[in-house]
Amino acid sequence: MLDEVIISGLTKNFGDLVAVDHMELNIPEGTIFGLLGPNGAGKSTTTRLLSTLLRPTDGTASVGGFDIIDDPVNVREITGVLPEEGNHTIYPTLTAYDNLLYFARLYDVPEDEIHERIEELLTFMELWDRKDDKAGELSTGNRQRLALCRAMLHRPRVLLLDEPSSALDPVAAKRVRELILGLSQKYKQTFFINSHNLPEVQRVCDRIAIIDEGKILLQGPTQELRSKLHAKQEFRIRIVGDVSKASSIAKSMNFVENVEDEFDSILVTVDNPTENNSELMQALLSDGVKIVEFAEEGATLEDLYLEVIKGGSA
Ligand SMILES: Nc1ncnc2c1ncn2[C@@H]1O[C@H](COP(=O)(O)OP(=O)(O)OP(=O)(O)O)[C@@H](O)[C@H]1O
Ligand SMILES: [Mg+2]
Repeated sequence: MLDEVIISGLTKNFGDLVAVDHMELNIPEGTIFGLLGPNGAGKSTTTRLLSTLLRPTDGTASVGGFDIIDDPVNVREITGVLPEEGNHTIYPTLTAYDNLLYFARLYDVPEDEIHERIEELLTFMELWDRKDDKAGELSTGNRQRLALCRAMLHRPRVLLLDEPSSALDPVAAKRVRELILGLSQKYKQTFFINSHNLPEVQRVCDRIAIIDEGKILLQGPTQELRSKLHAKQEFRIRIVGDVSKASSIAKSMNFVENVEDEFDSILVTVDNPTENNSELMQALLSDGVKIVEFAEEGATLEDLYLEVIKGGSA
């Protein structure tokens, strides 16, 4: 598979501050990639460099085979961008519909497809009934949805989305996830997503990188990173009856690392669960604990993220 985004030695200084520090990263075509990191880590600067809004201090990158320094016009043509202040890409005095119409023409979307595409996107983002509202009069979240529609309208090969769900309610955020997954399947687009929303990244992205102080600390397929760092896992055991009894049984097992009591369940961290879970379950059942659910809480990306940021590297 070809690499749609290739970042080599990419560096951006603002005075003495190194915002992006010799970044190396390859993103295969069709990947949904997530860039995670704390505030000020350099995520937005990376997106601005890739979208040719900023010029690197050193190094370079290519997007869809076009170099960001030598070929910025072509890079812009094949990318769709949701900047950090997504709302600013929208003209407040134009209606939602006319904003999209304007951008469709700017990007040479075939005239006979424009209406259908706008209707499809606005409907999907539950904005169709607001199409005649002035963009400036929409709520922040609705403007964010409109900005997302705008970024996707010309079906760019690469989408650079900076915190796409930051202003969205959970229902809209779910829609955006569905949209991203749907588009990536249908058009094999490549997504480069900055996010703080770790569970969301976990659900959507097939590759991630964790960045801090401009440096990539860890990168790889989401699945692989999760299992690599977590030989132990957390399970939720929901029970009917005495939680404290179940809790003390679990605590007595030598492979149980931690137990937390909750209202109707215990959260148990188990070493090597494939070996040990059945023993734990048997111990509970033979002492008369009524188990109604035994579910994997999983190693969340949050654990992974904290571990990497805390440790400096993995
Ligand atoms: N135009 C600029 N001039 C000077 N410093 C800048 C500029 N843009 C970004 N920085 C600095 O570069 C560093 C990286 O900023 P960036 O916006 O890329 O972080 P981020 O990871 O997107 O953070 P957040 O999660 O808060 O959006 C920060 O220290 C920031 O203050
Ligand atoms: Mg940012």
